[in-house]
Amino acid sequence: MTDQSITLEATPLHPLFAARIQGIDMHAAASPAVIDALVAAMDEYAVCAVPHATPVGNEDLIAFAAHLGPMDAGRSPKITGTGIRIPHNEITDQSNLDQDGAIYTEGDRRLLFKRANRLWHTDMSFRQVRATYSLLAAHEIPPRGGNTEFADMRAAYDALDEAMKKRIDGLVGEHCYWHSRTLGGGPDPTDEERAGRPPAYHRLVHTHPGSGRKVLYVASHLARIQGWPDDEARALIEELTAFATRPEFVFSYEWSDGDVVIWDNLATMHRATPFDDTRYVRDMRRATCREAPIHS
Ligand code: OGA
Ligand code: MN
Repeated sequence: MTDQSITLEATPLHPLFAARIQGIDMHAAASPAVIDALVAAMDEYAVCAVPHATPVGNEDLIAFAAHLGPMDAGRSPKITGTGIRIPHNEITDQSNLDQDGAIYTEGDRRLLFKRANRLWHTDMSFRQVRATYSLLAAHEIPPRGGNTEFADMRAAYDALDEAMKKRIDGLVGEHCYWHSRTLGGGPDPTDEERAGRPPAYHRLVHTHPGSGRKVLYVASHLARIQGWPDDEARALIEELTAFATRPEFVFSYEWSDGDVVIWDNLATMHRATPFDDTRYVRDMRRATCREAPIHS
């Protein structure tokens, strides 16, 4: 053995999940022992907040995320009118800023699509090869508002009654990006936008590969259930989402500049919360790992 195994110092932030982790500096190269310890912490807590005195830059975030699995490196299909502020395919710009660093103005369709992040979701459930970890780096946070909320979908599954567990066992959901954009009050997509993000199909319940725990996998992208009439599917999706986001399963994270929060999309849902988004900058940048390498 070349590396001593280590345990990171974790401060739990909620009775069920989420911890603040000390001892990781994403500005520097990560050792295999640190990565192993972080993966173990993620399997336990599902959400880990890693504080930094200064924001973690794009290159450092990408280099760190690459240790946690195959990375998403496809520039997302274009939202009409979007310029590129961050010149890295591996980074999803989650800010409210245009390509020149100016805050979007009210009514801008890019801002309207962004606000759909305020619906409970899990990243990239609308892709067949899903997101595993998301790493969101805070570069600048607004003076008020803009917490990110997380729901523990393992604990939610465990708490379902047996009849519901039986009812949803084996069901397959159809997840579509445009479903959540429309639910979130966004404009109708263009044909080109729609074609760029076709639906994907995933079971409503899966077993988490790292922890072995069962997880309820629903999200605002979940539009239909295979073989079910739309109205019945809608009702079930709403019931499960309401159940899983009861206060006891939810943790609200208040950001500090420099934080990187890592969440496991196969164990949690999350949502953005409002802030004065046409007045204050909120500059957040995400690197995302996928279940398998994507060659496209
Ligand atoms: C994301 C996301 C929420 C937020 O980056 O995937 O949903 O609070 N972010 O910015
Ligand atoms: Mn998200």
